[in-house]
Amino acid sequence: MKIFLDTANLEEIRKGVEWGIVDGVTTNPTLIAREKVPFKERIKEICDLVKGPVSAEVTALDWRGMVKEARELAKLDEHVVIKIPLTPDGIRAIKVLSSEGIRTNATLVFSPMQAVLAAKAGATYVSPFIGRVDDVSSDGLKMLEEIVVIFGNYSFEAEIIAASIRHPMHVLEAALMGVDIVTMPFSVLEKLFKHPLTDIGIERFTKDWERYKETMGR
Ligand code: E4P
Repeated sequence: MKIFLDTANLEEIRKGVEWGIVDGVTTNPTLIAREKVPFKERIKEICDLVKGPVSAEVTALDWRGMVKEARELAKLDEHVVIKIPLTPDGIRAIKVLSSEGIRTNATLVFSPMQAVLAAKAGATYVSPFIGRVDDVSSDGLKMLEEIVVIFGNYSFEAEIIAASIRHPMHVLEAALMGVDIVTMPFSVLEKLFKHPLTDIGIERFTKDWERYKETMGR
């Protein structure tokens, strides 16, 4: 399972990269706006840090505009992946870009059949939004599971990115399904480390070691 960070914050990305467990990054217009920095410069900075796939989202809503933006963004760095929303224009743009060898990430996917359309158009990645489906009292993990089954049925090449992750249980369930990638906020990645028995264990080992050193020093 590959881990992507869902953030445009350099500090968070740097920490994750230093731990050696971050394979890529996903951004979106909201995450970029939160950082209050020039968009393209930030995408380049993230690429230099992570040296893996970095999703940068287009903001045009028509396919010609999307393709134009995508071609510009793709020039920034070899690691840039173009995030395209799942609309009829988005699907058309994905088809054009994939024929040019530009990698795409179909975003704002909320149903299995939307995921199928993206895979058929040649998307490199497809991002179902788990948390946002849960937010409207539906079952995001069930949607994800259905996508995993369908992609297996037809051996679609697109990789699935479980997105809109809210907590460690989303990550666990996605991993049990064998999802290719999970993109998560830094706060969720931090939570994956946590277990009270680890903290208690370290405390006990440290105390016992101190006592041992005292005894041996006598
Ligand atoms: C995915 O690539 C999106 O950036 C992200 O996962 C959206 O998550 P949210 O629903 O927490 O905004």
